[in-house]
Amino acid sequence: MKLLTGIHNWHSKKRWLGGLILVSFALFIVGCAETGSMYTQPYNRPLSASNFFPDGRSARNLVPGTVPQTTQNANDPALTGLDSNGNFITTFPVPVTAALVSRGEERFGIYCKVCHGQDAHGDGTAVTFGFPKPPDLLGSDVKAFPDGKIFNIISHGQGKMLSYGYRVKPPDRWAIISYLRAMQLTGGHLTQPLTAAQLQQLGK
Ligand code: HEC
Repeated sequence: MKLLTGIHNWHSKKRWLGGLILVSFALFIVGCAETGSMYTQPYNRPLSASNFFPDGRSARNLVPGTVPQTTQNANDPALTGLDSNGNFITTFPVPVTAALVSRGEERFGIYCKVCHGQDAHGDGTAVTFGFPKPPDLLGSDVKAFPDGKIFNIISHGQGKMLSYGYRVKPPDRWAIISYLRAMQLTGGHLTQPLTAAQLQQLGK
């Protein structure tokens, strides 16, 4: 009798386990189904084409008057490169430190060097592949550009140069400009850190 009860218990346990496995499997299959209405939702990949809008683009322009979501004042010269009269600022809106210049050197290497070249003379690798040669950034023209104008060129591009605004955020734009100014001061890429006096000169 004891033996029989044992067998009976064993059987019901097995059934229970079997049920559990079946239910989990069913959930697994349903979870994987690619046809579920949650799985296939209409969406656009960034900058993909779309026939929904007449201009064929899925991306929309910002609504006029849109301001960046930040606690900083949207008119802060550090974000616009402009003074309160709308003119390009001629001085750095952030302190020029050795750390800023070295950050700029790194970012210039990532985003600008490929076209402008290591010493910013306009002889980057892209040019050897046929990309239009950019002007010399160490020449007298760009030396005379207000800082805010260079900020504006990085933000919005100019002529054949694309905008780097969405890849290079405002603090890094100033870092790159400080590095450009450092190169203009020393005549090319830095082989040693700027002296305190040189840093002070850039920050003026
Ligand atoms: C894909 C190549 C390319 C890259 C990358 C690039 N530029 Fe340019 N840049 C150009 C070209 C080409 C011009 C000339 C544009 C024109 O006026 O037609 C130019 C112009 C400029 C000018 C204006 C020079 C003048 O005399 O008018 C500045 C300043 C400048 N670039 C800075 C930068 C900085 C800083 C970066 C990195 C954030 C950068 N560029 C990245 C190609 C590039």
